[in-house]
Amino acid sequence: MLKEIFVTTVLISIFNQANCITNQTNTIKIHANKKDFIDGDKLVIDQCLVEDSSIKSANGEFFLIMEKNGNLVIYATNQKVPIWATNTDKTGGKRVCMQADSDFNMYSHSNTLIWSSKTKGLNGTYVKLQNNGKLEMFTKADKKVWETKK
Ligand SMILES: *[C@@H]1O[C@H](CO)[C@@H](O)[C@H](O)[C@H]1NC(C)=O
Ligand SMILES: *[C@@H]1O[C@H](CO)[C@@H](O)[C@H](O)[C@H]1NC(C)=O
Repeated sequence: MLKEIFVTTVLISIFNQANCITNQTNTIKIHANKKDFIDGDKLVIDQCLVEDSSIKSANGEFFLIMEKNGNLVIYATNQKVPIWATNTDKTGGKRVCMQADSDFNMYSHSNTLIWSSKTKGLNGTYVKLQNNGKLEMFTKADKKVWETKK
């Protein structure tokens, strides 16, 4: 219980870092296993998925996970088949963040950019994992500006 409170506090502090340029330590085990989901189906500005953390679609049929191997993957929950991936395994990717500049970016521990949605300037403020298995980015006014393609 104490441990969970501690981990939650650490997570909140990591997520609150502007632009996700964080220096979280390797020693803190953020998520014990892949069944730990961040509440909900969205990541808003300054929220990141760190390794082994996930969001899932509202219908529970899909989840997006930042895998330990550096790959960001959308899976169909039942089939366990990848729907989409950044194909960045073994590149050192450690976290993926929704940024204030509208980019959804993956970084290594040393903050090297590994992958980007390349949506800077499109005014996106959140990404949402939809019930059809697509990750989509929306503006504050809920206008879609980006989506994952197969
Ligand atoms: C983490 O970043 C903060 C702010 O840049 C810095 O003050 C601190 O020394 C860093 N800690 C480590 C362990 O790198
Ligand atoms: C983003 O917002 C700015 C300021 O409201 C606006 O001028 C610009 O046209 C918007 N860009 C897009 C791609 O909608």
